[in-house]
Amino acid sequence: MSLQYRAAVLHEVKAPLRIETVTAAALKPTDVLVKVKAAGLCHTDLEVIEGSLRNPLPIVLGHEAAGVVEAVGPLARGVKKGDHVVLSWNPHCGHCFYCDRDLPILCETYLGEGPKARAFDGESRGSLGNGAELQQLMYLGAFGEYCIVADQQAIPVPAEMPFDRACLIGCGVMTGVGAALNLGAIAHGDTVMVIGCGAVGLAAVQGARLAGAGAILAADLNPAKLALAASMGATHTVEATKEDPVAAAKAITGNRGADVILEAAGSPAAFRLTAEAVRPGGHIIWLGKVDVQQDVAFRWGALMQEKRIRRVSYGNARPRRDFPLLARAYLDGSLKLDEMISRRIALEEINDGFAALKRGETIRSVVMFD
Ligand SMILES: NC(=O)c1ccc[n+]([C@@H]2O[C@H](COP(=O)([O-])OP(=O)(O)OC[C@H]3O[C@@H](n4cnc5c(N)ncnc54)[C@H](O)[C@@H]3O)[C@@H](O)[C@H]2O)c1
Ligand SMILES: [Zn+2]
Ligand SMILES: [Zn+2]
Repeated sequence: MSLQYRAAVLHEVKAPLRIETVTAAALKPTDVLVKVKAAGLCHTDLEVIEGSLRNPLPIVLGHEAAGVVEAVGPLARGVKKGDHVVLSWNPHCGHCFYCDRDLPILCETYLGEGPKARAFDGESRGSLGNGAELQQLMYLGAFGEYCIVADQQAIPVPAEMPFDRACLIGCGVMTGVGAALNLGAIAHGDTVMVIGCGAVGLAAVQGARLAGAGAILAADLNPAKLALAASMGATHTVEATKEDPVAAAKAITGNRGADVILEAAGSPAAFRLTAEAVRPGGHIIWLGKVDVQQDVAFRWGALMQEKRIRRVSYGNARPRRDFPLLARAYLDGSLKLDEMISRRIALEEINDGFAALKRGETIRSVVMFD
């Protein structure tokens, strides 16, 4: 008898997710069956629902999750039944042009197979009652009671790590903290600015603190998010509807601009701001995204003067190295995650959760499974 479980399925863009019974496929030799315990609602899932990030349908979304390993295929390595795991959305082949150049996020198989939203072998790992094969977002599809992933995507973390906080490490926290810590852009004492203080931006603020930044300016449209940023290490907050972030960055740097600026808002206005608010020779790191077909405008002069611009996915993550480190940073108190969870919700409440994210009311709603 095949395993059956409940999952939230997207059948059409801009329509609500439907809770349905999914039948799991048989495990392939290197597959891992994970009982999902907690899954965060990220802006990227919302982009698929809204249609600005195109994926084949029907699909199970959810790519920020933690759970317990229920079963492993006979050739699965690095993980065993019973392990508590955080899931990575960047499986990679390990031997292509980009993997050899230490850029697993550009892995040819990862990027080549990604748009199919299935596993690396191109096969679906779940189906609906009518036999329709399901896609799984970012090789995961974690808005269900179970998901089947490749062994390298299930990263063991200490068992004392609570699942609701552990799941955040899988996307938002890794992306923001990693961008601040893994790129070597932030020097001790630097002035760092973060634009956009959702989960990714709040993680970037914390990454800047951990990297030893001297001043950390956080900008957002929403004062509640700025209050959180201040509690996580921002030394200055800028309410972008009332105050000009560029002027704020220049005011504390002798009119130079920030040494490093991270964009985590996903808005053309914020991308444009980064170029204006960074100093000559400074680092601009873009984490947010807009529809890939959309233009973003810059003032040419703002891009000149040796500015270094980098668009970074997943914070240069090496999940097997970074996830346990981030979990330990939470457990020793240096990484704050409790405050990032705005709501704990049931799977049935997932559409309300996305509506709240769209309205900007939440940092993270986390779906809890028992
Ligand atoms: N690079 C990656 O690997 C990666 C991973 C996850 C998410 N993302 C992207 O990062 C972005 C942030 O994700 P999130 O889940 O934190 O989203 P979120 O919606 O929770 O947060 C975005 C924040 O930006 C603020 N904002 C919007 N426009 C602004 C502006 N003009 N100036 C200042 N603040 C502004 C919003 O008020 C909100 O607080 C999204 O674009 C998402 O797609 C990227
Ligand atoms: Zn995400
Ligand atoms: Zn590769």
